[in-house]
Amino acid sequence: MVKIAVIGYGVVGSGTVEVFYKNLESIEKKIGESIDIKYILDLRDFTGTPYDEKFIKTFDPIINDGEITVVAEVIGGINPAYQYVKSLLEAGKSVVTSNKELVAEKGAELLRIARDKKVNFFFEASVGGGIPIIRPLHHCLSANEIDEIAGILNGTTNFILTKMISEGMAFHKALSLAQELGYAERDPSADVDGHDACRKICILASLAFGKHIYPRDVHTEGISMITAEDVQYCDDFGSRIKLIGWASKRDDKAAVMVCPAFISESSQLAGVNDVFNAILVRGDATGDVMFYGKGAGKLPTASAVVSDIIMAAKMNDNSRSLYWDDSEQPFVLDRNEIDNRFYLRLICENKYETLKQAEKMWGRLVLLHRNGEEENELAFVTESINEKKFENDCALISDTAEIKGKIRVLGY
Ligand code: HSE
Repeated sequence: MVKIAVIGYGVVGSGTVEVFYKNLESIEKKIGESIDIKYILDLRDFTGTPYDEKFIKTFDPIINDGEITVVAEVIGGINPAYQYVKSLLEAGKSVVTSNKELVAEKGAELLRIARDKKVNFFFEASVGGGIPIIRPLHHCLSANEIDEIAGILNGTTNFILTKMISEGMAFHKALSLAQELGYAERDPSADVDGHDACRKICILASLAFGKHIYPRDVHTEGISMITAEDVQYCDDFGSRIKLIGWASKRDDKAAVMVCPAFISESSQLAGVNDVFNAILVRGDATGDVMFYGKGAGKLPTASAVVSDIIMAAKMNDNSRSLYWDDSEQPFVLDRNEIDNRFYLRLICENKYETLKQAEKMWGRLVLLHRNGEEENELAFVTESINEKKFENDCALISDTAEIKGKIRVLGY
């Protein structure tokens, strides 16, 4: 009999326990032996659940119980999750987690400890909620060199953008709805400002490129500056605005970024709406492969946690499957080494003078229009341009025009 513990009984933790017991019979067939949850650790009081006798309030029974071989950590955040997971791995117990912050910050170290102790550290639920992406990326695409990954990696912001674009819903109303539905982070600025998507692209890129990519090295922008006018201009360009996390291998380094972007209507990513996530992986043998599904929510995320529990219970050694090295040297390219196309919306003192200045700096521009456009308003898309040069040029143009919108145009 395999005995496991669950740390955290919030949205994902309670979903994990629910899915585990709902499908216990088929789970046991897949493992080939019986399995049960012995402890559920949470500081809060829960009574009237079918699992009342399993609740504990301290970590000690779990770490000290030799019967426990697999632990699901679903509390989120770095502390105390990091101390718990590190000591569990050091004690020779496998750990599965949905905690993207933990994996993005401490993944290399925890994977190394798991390897040394011949146990497993799995984190399928940390990216894409219910979408299988970690294991397929590592196993099924392992014949490929992965050059590029791009994804809609945050369900909350995709839900908000969809509601704003198709239903004209106000930003805060859409955010409250996402919170009610259990999609948003405890601190929703992690969603809205792009940090959640950043952690996820760091995990995917670390796995694909074999070097730990730290969130602090990744330029990250959120969606709070997006306006209805930008959405109209984006429509005129035949595109949709999406929050994209992307990583691109460039020789021995990687360009990695999280930003809102114009995505062509013809791209598969443009049609991904509501809480759905999608991840495009470009392999040198496969070409583009897309993964699509619900990226947040109780049961989709619990599905990934429970499948990791099954995998960890079935394996009695470290698979040497999931692994990446720590990166002592900076692995992420600086923005002055990256080029991109940009959409810009300006309110000008003199529209024709500003247009002349813009064409002089950036060459051929695609001019955009919208219904109700102001007389002194100018909107266009540039050709591909160096990020740092564009920023310096924008500072010059700001002398005579106010920049109201600035969004990258990505070619996925
Ligand atoms: N807040 C996250 C999201 C939850 O909206 O995608 C899943 O990681």
